[in-house]
Amino acid sequence: MIIEDTFDGIIKPLRLGQLTFPHNLIQAPLAGISCSAFRQLAYQFTPPAYACSEMIMANDLIKNKNTPLRYLHRAPMEETLCYQVAGKTASTLATAATHLSALGADIIDLNCGCPKPKIRRKGLGSKLLETPDLLFQLVQAVRKNCSLTLSVKIRIDGQQDSGLNSEVVQAIVAGGADFIIVHGRNWQDDYDVNCFYEQIAEIVEESALPVIGNGDICDLTSLKRMASQTHCAGFMIARASMGQPWLYQQLIEEAQGHTFRRPTPETIITCYLNHLQNLQTLESEKVAVMQMRRLAKFYFARENSEEADTLLQKLYRCETVQEILLLVK
Ligand SMILES: Cc1cc2nc3c(=O)[nH]c(=O)nc-3n(C[C@H](O)[C@H](O)[C@H](O)COP(=O)(O)O)c2cc1C
Repeated sequence: MIIEDTFDGIIKPLRLGQLTFPHNLIQAPLAGISCSAFRQLAYQFTPPAYACSEMIMANDLIKNKNTPLRYLHRAPMEETLCYQVAGKTASTLATAATHLSALGADIIDLNCGCPKPKIRRKGLGSKLLETPDLLFQLVQAVRKNCSLTLSVKIRIDGQQDSGLNSEVVQAIVAGGADFIIVHGRNWQDDYDVNCFYEQIAEIVEESALPVIGNGDICDLTSLKRMASQTHCAGFMIARASMGQPWLYQQLIEEAQGHTFRRPTPETIITCYLNHLQNLQTLESEKVAVMQMRRLAKFYFARENSEEADTLLQKLYRCETVQEILLLVK
């Protein structure tokens, strides 16, 4: 895939570790969502540079328990896949990375951003940002055991201002990671708190590694804002990608100065049904239907029409795949 350069230089080729990509927009990890069923959809359009799995618990993976097929499955069309792991000991993470490497991972990402209390209580996710020395050891252990491209996804200090951003970044660089992904919020901040792009910019300035900026990108305007305020090498998108598998194509075409035609309602319905069909190969009917009910608003509410609202209300009541098919087809 060759992507025409954009005149303002936002969309450009990206090199991360040993990998090169034709553009620099990346699909974020989304627990409960970014499985293969979801990731495959973007390949009907211009796909992201690479996409990331849901967070996988390193401990569960190596003990071979509680890691559903959905977390690991990869469709043949998925060109570059990152598996994200959460762990807190060097040996567990190193072994998990070896497992994921054997499964064909292209990139391993260490989750250092999850804010959930049940994850932090176990010393995982964003809790690791409080102990840069331990973080260094973890990154180093994965690096020594695994030659794949390695990233660490972090959150920033934000308004908490613990002064740890710099130490965290130094630990990641010294540990041997290939790049850093920065979500511009503190772990205590919800989405109603604005991202601190200036702190991402400081990390870009300080880090010897490429930095991928993440937080609040949903259209070309917000992408441009993030790019101009942070100068990141690439950009990661999470919430805005839900129900919009064409988003990467849209952003690239719009950044090139082209007009992107929003997919027709028929195409959106096809995407929704493909998502359901993909999910059925990975999950029970009950789980697939529950997830597609939850995701329906991302596909249809953006339509902002009475018909879409009515469809949504009906979809929320569906109990079986057959009911969804009868309603939507
Ligand atoms: C439903 C949901 C699930 C998420 N799951 C993960 C996850 O498994 N791992 C992770 O690092 N971040 C996860 N995140 C955070 C996103 O990857 C991203 O950092 C955050 O949403 C900010 O990006 P955005 O403004 O583009 O949504 C999740 C976010 C949401 C909304």
